[in-house]
Amino acid sequence: MTLPRKVRIVEMGPRDGLQNEKGEVPTAIKLELIERLGEAGLTAIEATAFVSPKWIPQMADHAEVLGRIRRRPGVAYPVLTPNLKGFEAAKAAGATEVAVFAAASEAFSRKNINCSIAESLERFRPVLESARKANIKVRGYISCVVGCPYEGAIAPQKVAEVAGALHDMGCYEISLGDTIGVGTPGRMQAMVEACARRVPAARLAGHYHDTYGQALANIYASMELGIATFDASVAGLGGCPYAKGATGNVATEDVVYMLHGLGIETGIDLDRLVDTGTWISAFLKRESSSRAGRAIQAKRTP
Ligand code: HMG
Ligand code: MG
Repeated sequence: MTLPRKVRIVEMGPRDGLQNEKGEVPTAIKLELIERLGEAGLTAIEATAFVSPKWIPQMADHAEVLGRIRRRPGVAYPVLTPNLKGFEAAKAAGATEVAVFAAASEAFSRKNINCSIAESLERFRPVLESARKANIKVRGYISCVVGCPYEGAIAPQKVAEVAGALHDMGCYEISLGDTIGVGTPGRMQAMVEACARRVPAARLAGHYHDTYGQALANIYASMELGIATFDASVAGLGGCPYAKGATGNVATEDVVYMLHGLGIETGIDLDRLVDTGTWISAFLKRESSSRAGRAIQAKRTP
């Protein structure tokens, strides 16, 4: 299959990127990050998570973050909602798009959301029903699509089953999470092919963490199968609280650099994005994990 002409990038920095930060990140910094990402041309910015503050303290300011965003026309600010309680709180704070999150691994499901896969799907059903009535779009995530930190390799068929269930329930898009970044292009294609037999490829997205440096290759391999939406995190921020050693999502700068090099449109201003990655890395007092971001920044400084 030919590569897509355009790719949509869903920015994960403010949510997946920051959820695991140990030190406090002030609400004002989160809001500035979201603002800068919008200025750089991102049209989907996952803003926060309406999850339990006992489980994920960094997202405890969810209502304030969502409520204070200066919303740009044409930009979506989805938030995570694991259950009806989270959904109601997100709706009250003004959410117009939410995401539910399941796993293809039983053990990961229990660690992450404290229930089995089947129970999680039952919990999502009322969320989707309420969302439909409120005209709120719902995205669905699946974690551990090729490998799980507790169970090891995951069968493509298992991922396809969960993808099918989320799609049937009304999720407009299913984001396939390589939570611990263990996928390689061949295994990734086998998994995507299994899912695409159940859900149209145009409704699938790739959410690849870059722990083993495979994410760009996996994005390319997924584009060959018709996927044209990818999740990425500015400066490669992030890590998963329930997946030891996992690093952040693939860096948005690296994805944009590759796509523009391939002549694929993203609508993103790479220079502004690099500024944003440099700024947030400086705030967090660490080097950016984006190779393209560091290289572009290095060329700027004489
Ligand atoms: P639980 O303890 O089983 O829930 O947690 P519960 O219903 O028994 O309630 C226990 C307490 O939590 C109660 O409070 C509830 O009110 C409260 P208490 O009476 O003890 O004071 N509670 C909530 N509070 C705020 N917001 C809510 C909420 N629900 C219940 N929505 C629960 C179940 C799902 C809440 C919990 O396990 C949780 O919050 N998990 C979140 C885990 C998480 O955020 N993980 C990271 C995001 S997923 C991810 O990163 C993967 C992804 O990037 C894709 C990939 O890379 O694979 C998406
Ligand atoms: Mg993730």
